[in-house]
Amino acid sequence: MNDSKYVIAFLVVILIALTISYFAFIPKTEPDNEHVHDATHSHDPTYVYSDSMTSHFGISDNYSTSDFDPDSYLKAWNFNNLSPEERKRYYRESNLSDNTTLREYWIYASDKKIEVAPGVFFDAWAYNGQVPAPTIRTTEGDRVKIYFMNQGSKPHTLHFHGYHESSMDGSMPHDFVNPGENFTYEFTAEPAGVHLFHCHSTPLKDHIAKGLYGMFIIDPKNPREPANELIMIMNAFDTNYDGENEIYAVNTRAFYYLDHPIKVKKGELVRIYIGNMVENDPINSIHIHGNFFDEYKTGTRNESDAFTDIIELGQGERSMLEMRFPYTGKYMFHAHQSEFADKGWMSMFEVVE
Ligand code: CU
Ligand code: CU
Repeated sequence: MNDSKYVIAFLVVILIALTISYFAFIPKTEPDNEHVHDATHSHDPTYVYSDSMTSHFGISDNYSTSDFDPDSYLKAWNFNNLSPEERKRYYRESNLSDNTTLREYWIYASDKKIEVAPGVFFDAWAYNGQVPAPTIRTTEGDRVKIYFMNQGSKPHTLHFHGYHESSMDGSMPHDFVNPGENFTYEFTAEPAGVHLFHCHSTPLKDHIAKGLYGMFIIDPKNPREPANELIMIMNAFDTNYDGENEIYAVNTRAFYYLDHPIKVKKGELVRIYIGNMVENDPINSIHIHGNFFDEYKTGTRNESDAFTDIIELGQGERSMLEMRFPYTGKYMFHAHQSEFADKGWMSMFEVVE
């Protein structure tokens, strides 16, 4: 009996010792966000003074390469961002006898490392060395001729949305242009609208996810009202090849327009040509703060299909959005899939007088 008393007393002492050591040495736990708040605001003096929006969203570095300029991409078509001399190497236009225009393009595909977030590189396949490809823009009824050269390591094609003969579709195995080979695509641009072009080689998903896509705009014969026009392609990158995207963006570079807001004027007509080329996720969206817009689905009709502040786009779907900002200031626009926004598809307009 005496022995068992000692054993119980011994166990009680051990238990008390363990309890004391638990409370003494286990760190006080706090909710996650409080911890982060503390670390960034109190101990990192640069945070307080930093004007960088992206640092707030987790990316605070600058892009280390300048071989793609998302600001220039927004407003460039038919290589009008190049000097006249340089432009002639990729684009020429001439008048035809029937009052239409012949537009000729020199497009090449190649393997290219692109920067999709500061310091994050992706082994892309690109048209003319950039993702998205340079925008092709014509008027309804124009004759389009594209001299395509495959300088890449895989068979590629150009597949255009819109009317064309089946021999120009670039989608069948006998249409694939092997590395080192050329093909000339030729068609009359119809119908007016916001279209796309992309590679249609197989596996199709890989050839799109790798970056072979661009905007193809066919303007109606009756010109639209002049506007501040912007081209946006929603895209994403699976940087570790696990079948899920790590980086989302509009025009390739994650968070780029958050630190470099797109300047528009209060009250002016802003027209966005937008397409969704994201693979691995069936649906993407664009939501604009502080404003509403008219949506013209695929830009094919003159009547607005919706007046809203958000649209969803499936893979390959496009739209034309028109809006006027009523107030000056900075307004976010982003995917309403919050995960995509957190991973880079978060941008900003800056509305000025
Ligand atoms: Cu391809
Ligand atoms: Cu398509």
